[in-house]
Amino acid sequence: MQQLYPALRPCGVQDVYAELATLRSSPRVLMNVVTTIDGRATIGGSSHAIGSATDHLLMQKLRSVVDAVVVGAGTLRRESVSPGVAPPFRAERERAGLPPQPLTVVLGGEGELSLRGRIGRLGPERLVMFLPQGTDSLEVRDRATVHLYCGRRAEPEEVIRVLRERYGARTVLLEGGPSVYGSFARAGLVDEVFWTLSPKLSGGGDAPGMLEGPGSEGGPRTLRLVSVYEHLGELYLRYRAAPTEVFD
Ligand SMILES: NC(=O)c1ccc[n+]([C@@H]2O[C@H](COP(=O)([O-])OP(=O)(O)OC[C@H]3O[C@@H](n4cnc5c(N)ncnc54)[C@H](OP(=O)(O)O)[C@@H]3O)[C@@H](O)[C@H]2O)c1
Repeated sequence: MQQLYPALRPCGVQDVYAELATLRSSPRVLMNVVTTIDGRATIGGSSHAIGSATDHLLMQKLRSVVDAVVVGAGTLRRESVSPGVAPPFRAERERAGLPPQPLTVVLGGEGELSLRGRIGRLGPERLVMFLPQGTDSLEVRDRATVHLYCGRRAEPEEVIRVLRERYGARTVLLEGGPSVYGSFARAGLVDEVFWTLSPKLSGGGDAPGMLEGPGSEGGPRTLRLVSVYEHLGELYLRYRAAPTEVFD
């Protein structure tokens, strides 16, 4: 493992994002995403085959400092998700005065969504769901605190507002998929992007890219490079949206 930017130096995986604890000083929305070199966010319908074990470890590190992890219904339909942290990171959270696990937040939609076997390693008290009016099933009510919304999609601003006001969640981590990343990015709510670029070519097909959904009327947003690490050809890039840098 080596750090390439802002300085070139060898390092251990424990050094990557070592300063993350300072994130807690201000409310932030982080986005953690992995893509192939050709920009695909899935291979064979899932993200599991893209990132390495180091990528998965860094994802745990990110989860260890956040209050809530947000995941979309599309992802839950395609793969099982364990949005919690493993024991060593749990201990770190407790030392920092955080609950052992971040809150799991699911953005459900109009489509069918079964939680059975999809979310592991979490107690029901830590699960919050946003669902369109009239779609909450008994199975969901059994396991989660449900917030109902009008319209097709949960408004990203509303999701963040509810998480901050009702659950005290200051640092929120978006874990996908591309439609969720897209809607929060278009709303201008993403403060930092943690992007793993895996040294793989997907082989083509119609797999989604990093952001999906309608294009932004505001145009592209310029981000500032914070750090780059490398391990076995995989790059771990961190970008930050400066508060003054809005749409160009
Ligand atoms: N590469 C990565 O880092 C990464 C990370 C996570 C997941 N993935 C992959 O991404 C794929 C799923 O992505 P996806 O884009 O199809 O689904 P998604 O982003 O996981 O979920 C989108 C669905 O969530 C519901 N939703 C409710 N409010 C929303 C909002 N504000 N914005 C967006 N969606 C909202 C909608 O459900 P309805 O459709 O029911 O209306 C929508 O279709 C899976 O194959 C998964 O493996 C990749």
